Amino acid sequence: MSSKKILIGICGGIAAYKTLSLIRLFRKAGCEVKVVATRNALAFVTPLTIETLSNNKLYVDMFEHSTERTTEHISLAQWADSAVVAPASANVIGKLAAGIADDALTTTLLAFTKPVYIAPAMNENMYKHIAVQNNLNKLRQYHFHIIDPQTGMLACNIKGIGRMASPETIFETVIKDATTTSKLPTNKKALVTAGPTYEPVDAVRFIGNRSSGLMGFALAEALSAKGFEVNLITGPTSLTTVEKNINRIDVNTAEEMLQKCLLHFPQADIVFMAAAVADYTPAEKIERKIKKEKTPFSLLLKPTTDILKTIATQKKNNQIIVGFALETNDEIEHAKQKLHTKNLDFVVLNSLNDKGAGFETLTNKVTLIDKKNNIIAFPLKSKQDIAIDIIETVLNSVKL
Ligand SMILES: Cc1cc2nc3c(=O)[nH]c(=O)nc-3n(C[C@H](O)[C@H](O)[C@H](O)COP(=O)(O)O)c2cc1C
Repeated sequence: MSSKKILIGICGGIAAYKTLSLIRLFRKAGCEVKVVATRNALAFVTPLTIETLSNNKLYVDMFEHSTERTTEHISLAQWADSAVVAPASANVIGKLAAGIADDALTTTLLAFTKPVYIAPAMNENMYKHIAVQNNLNKLRQYHFHIIDPQTGMLACNIKGIGRMASPETIFETVIKDATTTSKLPTNKKALVTAGPTYEPVDAVRFIGNRSSGLMGFALAEALSAKGFEVNLITGPTSLTTVEKNINRIDVNTAEEMLQKCLLHFPQADIVFMAAAVADYTPAEKIERKIKKEKTPFSLLLKPTTDILKTIATQKKNNQIIVGFALETNDEIEHAKQKLHTKNLDFVVLNSLNDKGAGFETLTNKVTLIDKKNNIIAFPLKSKQDIAIDIIETVLNSVKL
């Protein structure tokens, strides 16, 4: 960790006193630490303490007269490897979610392109407020890592959720990611599929499914952040990605997805098949719009080609394939069956019985099963964090 540069943001909350221990933990681990505090944070902790512990100048005002560069918010954003906002106030969370940059902290964070960790801390009613929850969900979508608060005695003397995660938890979360980032593979290629497929019924209608593409996009982004060159083959989705290592390939149908997978699979070192591919497609191609009639109408469907099975038969020994299974009953058994019959290395099981998991949610709860039937169940987390967990676990147990 010795060379890691950590930017710590402090907001105006009572938990700011704990951030002093956090600064110490990073410094003891050999990290360089710089701190940006909001003006309100200084009602809780003093500049002298922060500067002494961090061994660096504290940054608060955007427009303070200085002999240093006037765009310090940009140079700070370039300087740091990771940023941590602890405590993150409801106010700063709201500003970041809205893209507001009206002080040094929010301006620096908007200019920041590397991992940002947000450790919210506030009264339980504030934390549970729909506006705060919506803002946190927005931040998850914008790829901020949220370090969830804990339940316990709050400063307002009631027991509830909203207490900032401990300095040790925050430190370990950031350090774990930062140290794994340093042993990234180089020149490795990943193939990821995401989203639904749309099977055309006629000129205007299609058969689709409720996959949002979020899980696949989160995997592609986490792989890109790890240094992989990623081919992301996605069905129709409104999601966007700005990662430069991701080559996005848009498709509509299961057949188009199959063709693109066959094209890109041979070069891939690791494959994550997270798309929800249609099992059936209309047997007949109807170019016009089908007119409404008074009599019942039936549509003949034919099975699509199983993409996962097809590419798995072409798998070389050094390629790793991770499949996804969405199950509603006998989940583990069905997932294991898929793993073995399709010659996969891992299967990630989503159960529709888990609240907050599966389609159209920002969160997911998955179980990872390997070839030896080892089972790891992950708790409910944002899809971004689940993607990191899956990738870490897979990469730790294989040799690429
Ligand atoms: C004693 C005290 C404790 C506070 N604790 C919190 C807190 O834990 N979390 C929070 O979001 N706001 C808290 N506030 C309110 C914030 O300080 C206030 O919303 C402020 O505008 C936040 O400013 P900042 O986000 O620019 O730092 C507290 C206020 C006071 C007076």
